[in-house]
Amino acid sequence: MTYRVAVVGATGAVGKEMLKVLAERRFPVAEVAAVASAASAGKELSFGDDTVLKVHNLETFDFKGWDIALFSPGAAVSKVHAPRAAAAGCVVIDNTSQFRMEPDVPLVVPEVNGSRIADYRKRGIIANPNCSTIQMVVALKPLHELATIERIVVATYQSVSGAGKEGMDELFDQTKALYVNEDVPPQQFAKRIAFNVIPQIDVFMPDGSTKEEWKMAVETRKILDPEIQVSATCVRVPVFVGHSEAVNVEFAKPITVEEARSVLRKAPGVQVVDDRSSDGYATPVECVGEDATYVSRIRKDPTVPNGLALWIVSDNLRKGAALNAVQIAEELIRVYLKKAA
Ligand SMILES: NC(=O)c1ccc[n+]([C@@H]2O[C@H](COP(=O)([O-])OP(=O)(O)OC[C@H]3O[C@@H](n4cnc5c(N)ncnc54)[C@H](OP(=O)(O)O)[C@@H]3O)[C@@H](O)[C@H]2O)c1
Repeated sequence: MTYRVAVVGATGAVGKEMLKVLAERRFPVAEVAAVASAASAGKELSFGDDTVLKVHNLETFDFKGWDIALFSPGAAVSKVHAPRAAAAGCVVIDNTSQFRMEPDVPLVVPEVNGSRIADYRKRGIIANPNCSTIQMVVALKPLHELATIERIVVATYQSVSGAGKEGMDELFDQTKALYVNEDVPPQQFAKRIAFNVIPQIDVFMPDGSTKEEWKMAVETRKILDPEIQVSATCVRVPVFVGHSEAVNVEFAKPITVEEARSVLRKAPGVQVVDDRSSDGYATPVECVGEDATYVSRIRKDPTVPNGLALWIVSDNLRKGAALNAVQIAEELIRVYLKKAA
């Protein structure tokens, strides 16, 4: 059984990682199409060790006969083209924020709520959550099952690759320029990102939070439990790849550090690195290219009755985007899209 898979946004940070993950995991492809904007049409991208793909223009790409499309071309583009692909009978797994909160579109992290994939039939679209939400819910789901989470306070330390290839270029160019006393004015970020941190990701909301902070709250509720309260502060930091999160969690029931560590050690997609020494915690640099969500610094939060504090790190381009999308596709073909070769 093999499938025709289109990767839309294939020239971008997430799209390139999608091609890599599809090849690494030997997704059963009959054919792969790389699709991007008209500006990239005809360019070449490699897939696996020996396949070269010519990039197609999304505007003229016909999704008829394609089984699955992994979309990451930005929300405005997905808004137009994801329904067009779905109408042609191609199941869309969309990485943008466009459809995440629509009630008839499932928002899926396979380790957390994989059974929701069944709801793809309503619109032909499955949404991939925000990168910061994904790693947080992977780590918190086992703890929620054990002691029922009531409230989460999270501060994120998000890498520039979360803003795509141009975000990475901006950090690189600014850093180089500063060493020779030159200035590269900010374009992708609100302020200088080199040797700085910026407490703004996405636009401001009427209540003073940012849209990224709002996304973490509403997506966590949609995926994990509508009762959970989330207070997030999202910060861009000068790291190329890998998002980190300092998380304080309040539970309804008592939970010890040992219980948390033990349940996390057995949890799918989670790797506990927690030795309470300088070598005993994860940092983003060590997580690049890895699939797991790393949990470190597990300790009691003594300021609330049933509280824990944690440090959660993951590769935002993999589990935060491409890997999660491919895992959804794997589940989709395993359970729902069985067909002959
Ligand atoms: N980076 C992350 O960690 C992350 C995580 C989760 C979700 N996402 C979401 O995924 C999306 C892409 O992110 P990214 O980081 O990969 O951005 P990126 O590096 O800027 O790549 C954007 C991709 O979209 C394509 N594209 C742009 N406009 C297009 C159009 N009009 N028609 C067709 N293709 C078009 C680009 O093609 P060209 O090269 O031809 O311009 C490129 O392939 C965003 O919505 C982002 O929010 C990103």
